[in-house]
Amino acid sequence: MTDRATAWGPASLSNLGPGFDALGLCLTGLGDRVSASRTDAPGVTVTGPPSLPTDPDRNTAARAAAHVLTQSGLEGGLALEIKKGIPLGSGVGGSAASAVAGAWAANVVLGSPFTKPDLVDAVLEGEVAASGSKHGDNVLPALFGGLVLTSPSDPTEYRHVDLEDAPEIAVLIPHVEVLTRQARAVLPETVPHRDASAQAAELAFLLDALRAGDWLEVGRRIMRDRLAEPHRSTLVPVYDAVKAAALEVGAAGCALTGSGPAMFALPSPDADAETVLEAMKAASLDGAIDAHGWVARVDPGGVRTLDA
Ligand code: HSE
Repeated sequence: MTDRATAWGPASLSNLGPGFDALGLCLTGLGDRVSASRTDAPGVTVTGPPSLPTDPDRNTAARAAAHVLTQSGLEGGLALEIKKGIPLGSGVGGSAASAVAGAWAANVVLGSPFTKPDLVDAVLEGEVAASGSKHGDNVLPALFGGLVLTSPSDPTEYRHVDLEDAPEIAVLIPHVEVLTRQARAVLPETVPHRDASAQAAELAFLLDALRAGDWLEVGRRIMRDRLAEPHRSTLVPVYDAVKAAALEVGAAGCALTGSGPAMFALPSPDADAETVLEAMKAASLDGAIDAHGWVARVDPGGVRTLDA
């Protein structure tokens, strides 16, 4: 058994337009690192940036790691050290990345008793520390990689889909704070039947295009969400300008990711992601909102060990 293990928890896109609370995609290029060491004292302790709670119940990595420790039945405890690469509240799955890295580092340092499917309960439990409920649309793609379809009513139900030939993706984080609970609070309690049925059809078309690798069609479909984005876009003052700029330089589609403020764009085959990203960033700056971003690929593998 190793004394210390460090895991990489990747960033992820969630919702992807009409896949509200149901679809997530794992990304390369940005992530959190969590190191775990075994301790004689029971329980989980955590150190990290001052912005993170140290109460193990309220810290996503610690809560997920504690679940793994209990599941293992082993004696002693764990000390975690978190290095955040993903800004908090950005919309690219920062709390989920820490949760999966915490669960994975704990698993490795305990001698790897569990496979990734065995860790689903632990990472969902980790997400509870951030959002108060079990959402799978960031933690499951960050765990497995690729695309994950999950059920909002029972996130232990999921499908992992490998995506081939996915294009590069431009991801922009405008520097405005959008808290997930605020972004959920702007959603109406009920929706008209015609919107619910249209959304179901849009999600079916989106999944069909994703499975077929028809990325031009995927781009079009990510802009057809009826349930969340029309309400949430009002929380990001540069939303319209960033989207228009992306489409202007050849993006096939552009949408919010998660509860925002981050936005992502898929370039059409004759455009390139770097150009799209620069246009999105310039539009945000023109709107007096600083922003940064990166060009990502789909990460097919999800959480992984960096050092053990
Ligand atoms: N699907 C969630 C939402 C992701 O859009 O609110 C945020 O954690």
